[in-house]
Amino acid sequence: MTPAIVDDLVEGDRVEVTVGAPAHGGHCVARLGGPHGRVIFVRHALPGERVTAEITELHRGYLRADAVEIHEPSPDRVAPPCPYAHPGGCGGCDLQHASGDAQLRWKAAVVREQLVRLAGLDPDEIPVRVEPLPGDQGLLGWRSRVRYAVDAAGRPGLLRHRSHQVVPVDRCRIAHPAIQDLDVLAHDWPNVDALQTVASTGGDVAVLGRPSGSAGPAPGDDPGEAPDGGPLIRLTGPAEVTEEAAGRSWRIPPQGFWQVHPRAADTLVTAVLEMLRPAAGETSWDLYGGAGLFAAALADRTGARVTVVESAPAGAAAARVNLADLDNADIVEARVDVALARRRVTGPVDLVVLDPPRAGAGARVVRAIAAARPRAVAYVACDPAALARDLKTFREAGWRLESLRAFDCFPMTQHVECVAHLVPA
Ligand SMILES: C[S@@+](CC[C@H](N)C(=O)[O-])C[C@H]1O[C@@H](n2cnc3c(N)ncnc32)[C@H](O)[C@@H]1O
Repeated sequence: MTPAIVDDLVEGDRVEVTVGAPAHGGHCVARLGGPHGRVIFVRHALPGERVTAEITELHRGYLRADAVEIHEPSPDRVAPPCPYAHPGGCGGCDLQHASGDAQLRWKAAVVREQLVRLAGLDPDEIPVRVEPLPGDQGLLGWRSRVRYAVDAAGRPGLLRHRSHQVVPVDRCRIAHPAIQDLDVLAHDWPNVDALQTVASTGGDVAVLGRPSGSAGPAPGDDPGEAPDGGPLIRLTGPAEVTEEAAGRSWRIPPQGFWQVHPRAADTLVTAVLEMLRPAAGETSWDLYGGAGLFAAALADRTGARVTVVESAPAGAAAARVNLADLDNADIVEARVDVALARRRVTGPVDLVVLDPPRAGAGARVVRAIAAARPRAVAYVACDPAALARDLKTFREAGWRLESLRAFDCFPMTQHVECVAHLVPA
């Protein structure tokens, strides 16, 4: 393939740059010298470092590159604990080369920048701090759902950054120990093109496979999406795994959505309840509700009607099973935008929790929530850019950000989970 050429640069060229602030997407921003001062997004670098960056992609307005030599290292730099976390290696982790504290500062800077640039917030109004999850579990061994890709020859591994190329690995260091103990990476899989592994907080372990050639996207690393549910076939483990959260035991299909970090579900429920302070008798919606994690907590506090809206049939079925003991919970199996537009869910409502996938809720949904005039909204977000866009719509509808918390639910990766507390201005 002929390499792309922009100006006088081609992919594979090396340039020396001083790296600036982190940006959304797991890289830092640098500028090439010269009259155009082209923007270059550099992975494997840290703010302030002087590096040689190898260009990996050329675009009209910007370049992408990997830091391949570090001339002036940041004091935050550490040796990546994973041998596959390097330029051209596994693309799953973005921040293995940063200390734990630097990862928190990196993510806080990204959240702040998104809220200022996309939501129009005043930087002084939002002292963003990213909190580690409670407990001293470290940065490795936490990931309770790991999707491995399988290449055309049947070899399993993890995907290279922005690529479908499978990088063979012996194990994934951020995976839960029970997943690292599985032998799924020790042999070939001639008949599947993806593997999903699960280790639940209740101690269950399951492996699923997607038959080769079946429809659906290649497995990604997207914390907000339920894994591609349809064609995943259970290979080993139970048909439902047990999760423990919010004072309840949950039965979840292994291909269904559940928070990936074992401490995340409890932490997010606690944050939502502290923000909303549900009172007895207040009605609520749990939008993008999955198995009804937030609904259960709200129903318990209010004793009043709580409505879960969830579009995935497996997710809605899990909500029906897991909330069956609550006579004040309704499950609406529908897309949130459709349910609100067709008035399958109607106000008055006092409290709304929304926890959309990575794309966010979108303006139509935000306007419909604002029009229902709840007392308060808790917006749980796995993408700060989508949160910021939706926050802008809330502000245009006369709402304001009362408080924001951010949690490191995905150590070693660029991902961060935010919980925003919104109230009518
Ligand atoms: C980030 S997960 C949150 C699930 C749940 N709140 C939890 O924490 O376990 C997003 C959920 O929204 C569902 N979903 C995605 N798009 C949706 C839509 N347009 N309408 C309703 N649910 C949707 C997904 O199936 C998934 O269960």
